[in-house]
Amino acid sequence: MLQVIVVTQLNIYKKNIMERLKNEYDQVNGKLLMKAVRLHEFGGPEVLRYEDAPRPELGPGEVLVRVHAVGLNPPDWYLRDGFKSLPPEWRPQVPFPIILGTDISGVVEAIADDVQGFAIGDEVYSMVRFFSVGESKAYAEYVSVPVSELALKPAGIDHIQAAAAPMSLLTAWQYLVDVGHNQPNPLQQNKHQPVPLEGKKVLVNGAAGGVGHLALQIAKLKGAYVIAVASGKHKQLLHELGANEVIDYTETAPEDVVRDVDVVLDTVGGPTTGRFLRTLKRGGVLFPVYPLGFSDAAEAEKAGVTVSATQVRSSGAQLTELANLLNDGKIRVVIDSTYPLSDARKAHERAAQGHIQGKIVLTVV
Ligand SMILES: NC(=O)c1ccc[n+]([C@@H]2O[C@H](COP(=O)([O-])OP(=O)(O)OC[C@H]3O[C@@H](n4cnc5c(N)ncnc54)[C@H](OP(=O)(O)O)[C@@H]3O)[C@@H](O)[C@H]2O)c1
Repeated sequence: MLQVIVVTQLNIYKKNIMERLKNEYDQVNGKLLMKAVRLHEFGGPEVLRYEDAPRPELGPGEVLVRVHAVGLNPPDWYLRDGFKSLPPEWRPQVPFPIILGTDISGVVEAIADDVQGFAIGDEVYSMVRFFSVGESKAYAEYVSVPVSELALKPAGIDHIQAAAAPMSLLTAWQYLVDVGHNQPNPLQQNKHQPVPLEGKKVLVNGAAGGVGHLALQIAKLKGAYVIAVASGKHKQLLHELGANEVIDYTETAPEDVVRDVDVVLDTVGGPTTGRFLRTLKRGGVLFPVYPLGFSDAAEAEKAGVTVSATQVRSSGAQLTELANLLNDGKIRVVIDSTYPLSDARKAHERAAQGHIQGKIVLTVV
């Protein structure tokens, strides 16, 4: 009797192993597989497919990361949609199927021979390969990361918070404190120049969103007086994050009541960003985070205001510096909502509703 039970258990065990191997290996190409969310065509959230995909192979200068969480950003839905909101000359060729996403937190699984400074088992976070398409990306169980884009995860926060940070935090930092790289700026000819914030009056528009809630905290850290603009439901959070004043734009247009500020960081941007020119003093700066559609250059010159934008670039060095601020709670990442990787579609549906408070994150394991 005992022998029968043992043999049956062994058969079940063998069957499970075979099933797992079948799942992890592509029978046709003999390659290791993983779960990922891929696009085979452009469209709404319904085109996001949770399916098997080849595991990325490790190239020179790269680290393979087992992903624990993925932070979402607007470029994810711009790409899913076929970059409809971007000018045609910005729309890259897309070699379907592709994996979406840039921001990850996870654990180092393997390291290329020429890479130093990381070890298997390290907890890491990164903004991976922004603005490239078709290579190893974030909505997946594994991602290969160029080592220059990788940093140790802040130990004091979990993978969800760490994955939520990279693009939004690097954007706020590169706009307000330090560009930190010498790559060409596709948004303007000259290099973007942050300004000192100590003792300055800073207005952050879209202050509860991914970039906005981190920009507000950075401006406070650097000694600024901060006016936060958002819809009313975020008021308490924005005060908790340090805002000196909060304007509910659904009740009061900020451009009607604010004057003489030194810096406006407009995370909403677009064609309406010019309305903030009248809130700035002469010598002030307007930083539209989404600058496409700005057409008030002549008015800005008349008002003596500098308008400047930049496109975020990954930097392991900056993420290492910022990890200290995240670690000791000087900067707090607010989580709007989380979804399993397999529900990426629901996460994109949440994003499409707008009014995001902080960040949306996918959990992977
Ligand atoms: N230049 C770059 O490299 C770069 C990098 C990252 C992001 N971006 C761009 O920056 C923009 C913001 O990104 P994000 O990740 O922060 O987006 P997000 O998380 O969606 O945040 C946008 C925020 O704006 C608020 N908002 C919407 N309409 C508003 C209005 N009329 N006035 C004031 N606030 C308003 C929303 O909430 P409430 O309406 O409830 O207040 C939301 O919290 C996107 O267009 C993105 O593409 C650019």
